[in-house]
Amino acid sequence: MKNRGRIFLIDDEELIISMLARSLKKEGYETKIQTNADDVIDKIASWHPDLILLDIHLEEDRTGLDILADIKKEKLDTEVVMLTADDTAESAIRAMKLGAADYLTKPFNIDEVKIVIASILEKTKLREELNYLRKTGTASQAHSMVGKSPVMQAIIGKSQKIAEAKAQTVLITGESGTGKEVLARYIHNWRHLRQGDESEFAPFISVNCTALPENLIESELFGHAKGAFTDAKADQKGMFELANGGTILLDEIGDMRHNLQSKFLRVLEERQVRRLGGRIDLPIDVTVIATTNKELKAAVFNKEFREDLFFRLNTFALHLPPLRERRDDIPLLAEHFLSHFSHKYNKNVRGFSADALTALSGYEWPGNIRELKNVIERCVVLETLEIIKPENLPAELTGGFSRGELQEAKHINLPEEGISLEEVEKDLIRQALERVGGNQTKAAKLLNISYDTLRYQVKKYDLK
Ligand SMILES: Nc1ncnc2c1ncn2[C@@H]1O[C@H](COP(=O)(O)OP(=O)(O)OP(=O)(O)O)[C@@H](O)[C@H]1O
Ligand SMILES: [Mg+2]
Repeated sequence: MKNRGRIFLIDDEELIISMLARSLKKEGYETKIQTNADDVIDKIASWHPDLILLDIHLEEDRTGLDILADIKKEKLDTEVVMLTADDTAESAIRAMKLGAADYLTKPFNIDEVKIVIASILEKTKLREELNYLRKTGTASQAHSMVGKSPVMQAIIGKSQKIAEAKAQTVLITGESGTGKEVLARYIHNWRHLRQGDESEFAPFISVNCTALPENLIESELFGHAKGAFTDAKADQKGMFELANGGTILLDEIGDMRHNLQSKFLRVLEERQVRRLGGRIDLPIDVTVIATTNKELKAAVFNKEFREDLFFRLNTFALHLPPLRERRDDIPLLAEHFLSHFSHKYNKNVRGFSADALTALSGYEWPGNIRELKNVIERCVVLETLEIIKPENLPAELTGGFSRGELQEAKHINLPEEGISLEEVEKDLIRQALERVGGNQTKAAKLLNISYDTLRYQVKKYDLK
């Protein structure tokens, strides 16, 4: 059964809370009960409950409000719901002021208790995912999967089956830009939204294994306890815990360091994590989707990738072929992006001429769908006509002038109705960065501006 979270019940009325604990267990929560105030803070710090139900009048000299104040002072990462016997709002209001999430009045209505708990935990998850997205700058967009070619249809069908079977690990391989992340989100959505499997909010956390600095990656993935290292000022959940009940996407798994691979394999096998400096193993219920654009088999052969981890991941594997091997999808994708960007930039570009579509379909697309998307975005931003013609496409698509030749000309005609200089600038910077593989020093040279100016522009236009 799904683990919906850990709940710590603290109340001196043993009968009442053991009954409560039993019904919460049936709902899929892990529970612990305690009937006094002994070592409460220490127990919270080592068990990391997601939520505490805390009696307001616990002991004469140490009330629930005292404990609540300590929880907040110690910055323990948990929500607290106060339990009160009287309906006098006074103490409940004090509790809310001290930072309690809610309060419940005895005798309990068990359904009300369940609703309050579920909604607090759901809010916590949403907030955590949002914080994570803010921190990493990865926007959780609703991606649609476009693709009618037989290969794509087969992949979509297989993905649905994998999602319905609740596979715990999935491997997605494919060249850069083929849509691995889009497919991962599709699997996640199919399992959690379409299936209506559980009505709760299911987080989707995406981690790029190469983007994290080495000294941080373990504490980011597994979390840490307060004091685990110098900068660990408070308890922190790791990404596996954040993704609990949902999906964690590990991007570029092929680049994961060897010793981290072993730890990761253990998490997959035991389905639990221990925070750095933590004292207990926390059960996790996540779908792990790993992606790579590397040949993992070759990496295994070269001893760069653990064989046991490869077999573990490879149980449910999906391969996205490069775009040049599913050319039937190109017109469909091109139209899809055209209408998307036309809408986004408030333009009235409506379609492609037949020979423009031929040019798009015939190109090799080394950068796959991402490259196609960028090309279309550029067209929409720069074009002023309703129909895109071959001459509006980048030269390498039509075999016409090379970019170098066009640069020689250094002359751009100002369209009659004007143009957004900012968009042109942004587009040129993006082109320069693409050409030199994101190297900002080289891109600055290409554009004949200083490195600092380029860095400023990249930041300003949010280009990566
Ligand atoms: N089937 C699709 N339908 C619509 N858009 C797609 C599709 N596949 C990919 N895209 C778009 O193409 C871009 C690249 O996709 P994605 O990030 O999933 O690729 P990737 O395989 O993860 O690439 P990388 O290996 O570089 O991380 C994204 O902007 C995505 O929205
Ligand atoms: Mg990706």
